[in-house]
Amino acid sequence: MILGTPLSSNATKALLLGSGELGKELAISLQRYGVEVIAVDRYENAPAHQIAHRCYVIDMTDAVAVKKLITLEQPHFIIPEIEAIATTALAEIEAEGLCTVVPNARAIQLTMNREGIRTLVAQQLKLPTSDYAFAESFEELQAAVDAGIGYPCFIKPTMSSSGKGQSMVKEPEQLKTAWDYAKASGRVDTGKVIVEAKIDFDFEVTLLTVRALDANKIIQTYFCAPIGHRQENGDYRESWQPQIMSDASLALAQDIAFKVTQEIGGLGLFGVELFIQGDQVWFSEVSPRPHDTGMVTMVTQKQNEFELHARAILGLPVNTNMQQAGASAVILGGVDASGVSYEGLELALTVPDSEVRLFGKPEAFTQRRMGVALASADSVDEARNKAVKAANYVVVKT
Ligand SMILES: Nc1ncnc2c1ncn2[C@@H]1O[C@H](COP(=O)(O)OP(=O)(O)OP(=O)(O)O)[C@@H](O)[C@H]1O
Ligand SMILES: [Mg+2]
Repeated sequence: MILGTPLSSNATKALLLGSGELGKELAISLQRYGVEVIAVDRYENAPAHQIAHRCYVIDMTDAVAVKKLITLEQPHFIIPEIEAIATTALAEIEAEGLCTVVPNARAIQLTMNREGIRTLVAQQLKLPTSDYAFAESFEELQAAVDAGIGYPCFIKPTMSSSGKGQSMVKEPEQLKTAWDYAKASGRVDTGKVIVEAKIDFDFEVTLLTVRALDANKIIQTYFCAPIGHRQENGDYRESWQPQIMSDASLALAQDIAFKVTQEIGGLGLFGVELFIQGDQVWFSEVSPRPHDTGMVTMVTQKQNEFELHARAILGLPVNTNMQQAGASAVILGGVDASGVSYEGLELALTVPDSEVRLFGKPEAFTQRRMGVALASADSVDEARNKAVKAANYVVVKT
């Protein structure tokens, strides 16, 4: 791999589609190798915009706008950070062979739609998932639930993330409300929902899986220690590493993650979401990019998930070793306001071995992630206590 000088004619350029807090950390990692970073989002002053070499505001679901910008910038790498992207434009650009879509256009297409990835994993790879069905009308949904999925079950728009439009249905009377909610809040209305039987898991993990070149330029698959997390309303609130698992369930988890990421292909880091019960493991979904629950690696690993993604993309060797136990706790907006201020950072940082990242988002919403508190410790329990304590000290004010 030959890297150029940023802002010169031989620059190695990466264009980020999506410039949130994960994109910001990735931009920092790329810039440490002298990569020129162009940050794109749908609104101004997004977190990665604030540190990139250049930034743009476009509608990333508009294929014409995406292609126009790529033609203008001619990046070497296009790195999607979000799911809501005009994927047909990425497929065309990849076919022209002028740049690398990370990890590849098919991966972005498959994972932006739950139907694509679920069908691939369950039908083609025959790996364990929850029982599921797709429905295009309320009648179809009702029929699928009655035919075996049963209650409780989850209803989700096929295109959505962060729990949007998703609900758990415990009894028949709630099904119509869940259908209406999913139809109304899908990111792009595909007209379809997925219904999944509820897995009664002991815990859920994100297994960060990296496809990177070794010293002989051969693609290898590396795993980070499993990350446990706690979700509320389909969005994560706390994560920790390592999540203790039985040897058998860890081996199964790694086997599933290996098979899924191998099928997807390309180079980069993937967040494989899995449900664990006893020694049983179910695949849930996969992000072909750093994962929000993986922010904990900023205090647990020598090479955090952003560094690993940057290195893998650039064809550089990686090291996924964990150095110490740690945890992350989300700092929510708590208010709907723009230009908010943050109090209590000096208290938060009195918590031993803690760190706080404030994302600098221009606008706060009650449930929007505005920052994250991180802490390391000798044990996961202690790290979780410390991270939550630090997060609670930070107060968002209008
Ligand atoms: N079939 C299921 N059985 C049990 N729990 C589930 C199931 N589906 C979803 N959940 C719970 O809801 C959470 C969010 O689900 P999922 O990951 O599918 O949604 P999402 O909108 O893609 O969220 P994100 O983008 O934050 O990953 C899961 O992490 C899990 O806690
Ligand atoms: Mg998820």
